[in-house]
Amino acid sequence: MITGGTASSGGPAPHPALLPDARRDLPSARTVAAGCTACDLWARATQTVFGEGPDRAPLFLLGEQPGDREDLEGHPFVGPAGELLGRALDDAGIRREDAFVSNVVKHFKWKPQGKRRLHERPNAAEIRACRPWLDLELELVRPDVLVLLGATAANAVLGPRFRLTESRGMLLEAEADAAGGPARIATFHPSAVLRARDAESRRTTYEALVADLTVARQRLAS
Ligand code: URA
Repeated sequence: MITGGTASSGGPAPHPALLPDARRDLPSARTVAAGCTACDLWARATQTVFGEGPDRAPLFLLGEQPGDREDLEGHPFVGPAGELLGRALDDAGIRREDAFVSNVVKHFKWKPQGKRRLHERPNAAEIRACRPWLDLELELVRPDVLVLLGATAANAVLGPRFRLTESRGMLLEAEADAAGGPARIATFHPSAVLRARDAESRRTTYEALVADLTVARQRLAS
């Protein structure tokens, strides 16, 4: 958890997510994050794409970073991966509008390929630079269940040793000493369904995503 603070004179500038206590709410966080330059990604992105959803959501869905459409529109998961996520949520009996949806990194990282902007994975320094925004979102939204969509989100939250291939779909309750943090479950990123090499693997990946989202829903209902 991060807390509001002031810069010590002469030290590095404080992270912009260190909002003063009086402004520790989602609208303020979104406004300040819009001007975030904590890593270099802001320079090539159209805008910061901050998390969206109810102020206090039982379910928090965490992806990697905004894609091309999200970068242009300013909202998380509104492109093809978002469309697939919406369908999977429906099939799992979850209303998207009940969930808070965000990303580990809030700026689109890309490289040019012809006229297209090709997604590039954020590196460890970029993930670290953006982490205070995620911590603030989690602190303010106080979800009961955090769904980690894909390896970037899973490793950012559960550590670099976590293997999605081995532990996908396992509900991890907060440790007793974690002061009631959310239960966590890692699953496939919706893009993994879109990128699947054939129809059969597309089907099994999609079904696994829906099954894991269903586990999250059932945990909320328990
Ligand atoms: N992929 C993500 O991880 N997040 C988005 O918002 C869109 C695509």
